[in-house]
Amino acid sequence: MAGKVRIGIIGAGAVSDYHHVPGIRLDSRAELVAMCDPNAGLLEQRKKDWGPIRSYTNYEDIAKDPDVDAVIIATPNFTHLPIALSCIENGKHVMAEKPLGLNFEESAQMYRAARDKGVRHMTAFTYRFAPSMRYVRHLVKSGALGVPRHFRSQRFLDWAETSWGWRQYKKLAGAGDLFDMTIHRIDFSQDLMGPIKSICGAVAQFAKRDVTADGKSCAPSEVDDWSSLIGLFESGATGVWEGSTLMKGHHNNGFGYEWAEVNGSEGSAAYQLTDPNNVILGKHGGTMEKVPVPEEFLVIPGSPREPHAGVPSTVFRYDLVYELVSAIVEGRDAVPGFDHGATAQAVADSVLESFDKRAWVDIKADLG
Ligand SMILES: NC(=O)c1ccc[n+]([C@@H]2O[C@H](COP(=O)([O-])OP(=O)(O)OC[C@H]3O[C@@H](n4cnc5c(N)ncnc54)[C@H](O)[C@@H]3O)[C@@H](O)[C@H]2O)c1
Repeated sequence: MAGKVRIGIIGAGAVSDYHHVPGIRLDSRAELVAMCDPNAGLLEQRKKDWGPIRSYTNYEDIAKDPDVDAVIIATPNFTHLPIALSCIENGKHVMAEKPLGLNFEESAQMYRAARDKGVRHMTAFTYRFAPSMRYVRHLVKSGALGVPRHFRSQRFLDWAETSWGWRQYKKLAGAGDLFDMTIHRIDFSQDLMGPIKSICGAVAQFAKRDVTADGKSCAPSEVDDWSSLIGLFESGATGVWEGSTLMKGHHNNGFGYEWAEVNGSEGSAAYQLTDPNNVILGKHGGTMEKVPVPEEFLVIPGSPREPHAGVPSTVFRYDLVYELVSAIVEGRDAVPGFDHGATAQAVADSVLESFDKRAWVDIKADLG
């Protein structure tokens, strides 16, 4: 495509500011040209933070803006589907935040709309871009660990027990920790190990969250604070996942604790969010030891990001935009696409179904 990829941000909140806008700034092939948010006060603030770009309060206006090539949807979960459908109908390439929709059917609808319109689509599964995750993937796919037999992940955060805003209501968020955090781990496990075939899941709520951070009462939370599953991959491998935002003592400057490992027939490899430029490796009969991620895995190929600059647990997230823009410029599918977002959603939905029924559930993820 001629000229820069002109990007519009829809949802000018936390995650857009944290990594999408810095990602656009780093990529000389891309330009931030517009933003949309119903919060006019926030738009004024973002003009100071991000520069004097066009601003809209209604997503249909940015969807119809002929001078926007691609959008990044970073809004509350219940809005992803209508915003994505409107932008796709108007021919925009779309990156949407996870969870793609409130359930698998919504996510699959987004996938089919983008596929049928022929636009690029991407799910913002951030952790796939961590250097150590990319290196663990290389070790798994190259056979260095032997036959992958087992996957395990834990994601613990120590967040306040006050209101979680839109995130704590089923109609707006779908689910709590499960759709916010564990869904990332479901996605990268499927990227490492292949599709999940069946699962047994559980969720729990630990806190009422009926008071806001500034002391006002609000409707109590309806969603899970802890989610977990055990599962079987189609390959025959096994998996165990667990996450919570209320694990005291795991604050760690907001990064919390994250561990994910693959155990194979020859060896094991582990990733940690808090040390993403190293992995922990062990071979049969040996000891798990820290090993630096090789230089070629520190950024995605071609990324202009200086691999050793910035806070390691933050900066890899900037590569998401590089992947989206590369897919647009090169005329290829972005990875992870909406198809990956939808299949992870199918597994996450099944955790709720499994817990309701107190039974194992086979994953149904027919994208149509
Ligand atoms: N990939 C990641 O690592 C990651 C991290 C954090 C959040 N997220 C996801 O990003 C999304 C946004 O999360 P956040 O933490 O930035 O939330 P946030 O509440 O900070 O920001 C959301 C913004 O969207 C705006 N908004 C609401 N309705 C809108 C609409 N119809 N059109 C345009 N804007 C609208 C709100 O006014 C708000 O400014 C969620 O889906 C969340 O799950 C992903």
